[in-house]
Amino acid sequence: MERFIFDCDPGHDDAVALAMAKGLSEYFKLEAVIATFGNQTREKTLTNALNLVQALELDVPVYEGSTEPLLRERVVAANIHGENGLAGPVFPPCRIKSAGNGIRYALDTVINNPGEITFVSVGPYTDLAVCIKSDPRFAKSLKRIIVMGGSTCGGNVTNTAEFNVYADPEAAKIVFDSGVEIYQFGLDTTLQVMLNEDILNRVRNSEETTYKKIFLASMEYYVKSCKEFIHDYPAMHDPCTIAFLADPSIFEFRKVRVAVDCKSQLNYGATVDLREAENKNVYKAVKADSEKFWNLFFKALERLP
Ligand code: RIB
Ligand code: CA
Repeated sequence: MERFIFDCDPGHDDAVALAMAKGLSEYFKLEAVIATFGNQTREKTLTNALNLVQALELDVPVYEGSTEPLLRERVVAANIHGENGLAGPVFPPCRIKSAGNGIRYALDTVINNPGEITFVSVGPYTDLAVCIKSDPRFAKSLKRIIVMGGSTCGGNVTNTAEFNVYADPEAAKIVFDSGVEIYQFGLDTTLQVMLNEDILNRVRNSEETTYKKIFLASMEYYVKSCKEFIHDYPAMHDPCTIAFLADPSIFEFRKVRVAVDCKSQLNYGATVDLREAENKNVYKAVKADSEKFWNLFFKALERLP
């Protein structure tokens, strides 16, 4: 059973991914959550992660990730995810506290379990990059890396850059150049898995649960902000990583080497597939079966508190 660390920046779609991680737990073992800066400041994403772990009754520790990118100025996505990073749902007082430094935790856990631990990153890849650079044993000990991010079909922050990479391009370059086997879920694929009114109505007609309220309250906000700023319904970006762990057949892949533009101004944070390169280490998702994805989502939804 694959064991993984989930590094996230909740974030509306990060929250759906955590819910699916809870509901589909027979397929994998979630070891821990690390909250990083990204959609909002680390302080806010940590609060959101703690609230979600408590509401989902996830029995996993929540660690503190990075507060800033490696080099560039920090950017957040308040326009999409709101001032607190997860606008919409209201949570009761949170009883759980942070378990401490996430980078220390990740280094110790991965190095002490060689070949066993997968690192899933669905926010900026800063924590992963710091681990790779901190200790050469880390990359060698990882089972594999799964990331949401990058795009060769246009960006969602600039014309060419996707948010997770744009928020820390230097970290993304370190990760893609690490030589570790990577499964990449960029916009090319995640935009094939879109929320719509039929899905929302199916959830509205489902059994009353705590998570149903969280999902509907968060999606009500997320639909409005996505329609205003990206002129479409939200895509299930981060949940694609969890769906892949549960049922890899939902996706099709092409093997590439990924380069990150850390030099230009206009295309800063863009990713490029080097299809002719040697040592291709990235399995880039190119196709998603949306129906299979949503069937998996509803399978998880039925099991949530
Ligand atoms: O571009 C989409 C990514 O940016 C998702 O991970 C979303 O949560 C935001 O972090
Ligand atoms: Ca995210």
